Amino acid sequence: PNPSLLILPGDGIGPEVMAEVRKVIDWFAAERGLAFDVSEDLVGGAAYDAHGTPLTDETMDLAQLADAVLLGAVGGPKYDDLDFSVKPERGLLRLRKEMDLFANLRPAQCFDALADFSSLKREIVAGLDIMIVRELTSGIYFGEPRGISDDGRGGRVGINTQRYTTDEIRRVARSAFELARRRQNRVCSMEKANVMESGILWREEVQWVHDNEYPDVALSHMYADAGAMQLVRKPNQFDVIVTDNLFGDILSDAAAMLTGSLGMLPSASLGAPMANGRPKALYEPVHGSAPDIAGQGKANPIACILSLAMALRYSFDRGDDAALLEGAVERVLADGVRTVDLLGDATTRAATTSEMGDAIVAALSRR
Ligand code: NAI
Ligand code: MG
Repeated sequence: PNPSLLILPGDGIGPEVMAEVRKVIDWFAAERGLAFDVSEDLVGGAAYDAHGTPLTDETMDLAQLADAVLLGAVGGPKYDDLDFSVKPERGLLRLRKEMDLFANLRPAQCFDALADFSSLKREIVAGLDIMIVRELTSGIYFGEPRGISDDGRGGRVGINTQRYTTDEIRRVARSAFELARRRQNRVCSMEKANVMESGILWREEVQWVHDNEYPDVALSHMYADAGAMQLVRKPNQFDVIVTDNLFGDILSDAAAMLTGSLGMLPSASLGAPMANGRPKALYEPVHGSAPDIAGQGKANPIACILSLAMALRYSFDRGDDAALLEGAVERVLADGVRTVDLLGDATTRAATTSEMGDAIVAALSRR
């Protein structure tokens, strides 16, 4: 049977960028014999409009069975006043939670044609290609006890708890080491073992996984604050960075600014291996539904197209095809094709969403 791909375009620019992904999928089917069983369904506000819930049980079941899920974006002003339980974001949160997607992969890759777009100097970001692996389902955002209460002295106290178990650390560490083996074989683990107990455990468990299961991968440890400094000073020193939920949230946003536009950033969230050995997987652009430009043909489809490239590499073992697709994106950018978000002060005419998609498909054919 063909591998299965569930597509959830969602809201706002989600369906617009996903239409361009469909062109790319069709090209791979026609030219590279890569036939997926593609199904499409609703998520977020679109699902709420049709079914009164941001994710139906039927769609959840499809996601659990799919070899990979590709999501556009959810949300928009139309849904801002909805009850929390049916907000579009809840559809996405349910997917992540029920699929138990504990490893969030955020690449920070700088395409040469966009190096001047980075928040940093070209010399620092040229050739940049790092991968941040953030633990996504535990840590201080979920730990108990938590809450705001009286402090007994007329004030209040806000409490969150950073809590990590051996299993939680080891499984995300394994994801990072697996990734490193397909890349430059280097992992840097970041925590604050100098001031946090959970940081000490993190460091020890990552080291344990390394020594017992991945001794061939080069492992280093860094305090997360020093890591933030190094990310900005000399980002090219890193290959794979693995870190907890909180530090990963911050470090991945900082790393995103090394590369240019939000419209360029893909992501993956991976869970445990399924019976066929593939990890449970959800791929999505980092950006949201961009209501300010929705419906105007202005959205940059590259983040979503690069998310498909990640799916090719990490779910379908088609690293060559992923590289082909990334190369096509690189050539189109080198040719000067720019959606509005990539124009900056330039006065050339902006490409529409669909022109960008067409240009990438054309570049695939003239490789
Ligand atoms: P956003 O990412 O949708 O937009 C931020 C800014 O970046 C906007 O000016 C937008 O026009 C621009 N932008 C984003 N993606 C772009 C693309 N592909 N091409 C060109 N420009 C792009 O974040 P914002 O505005 O904070 O949130 C808008 C809605 O999206 C909200 O309802 C929010 O809850 C939702 N959201 C959903 C996410 C998801 O589905 N994973 C993630 C973030 C926000
Ligand atoms: Mg964040």
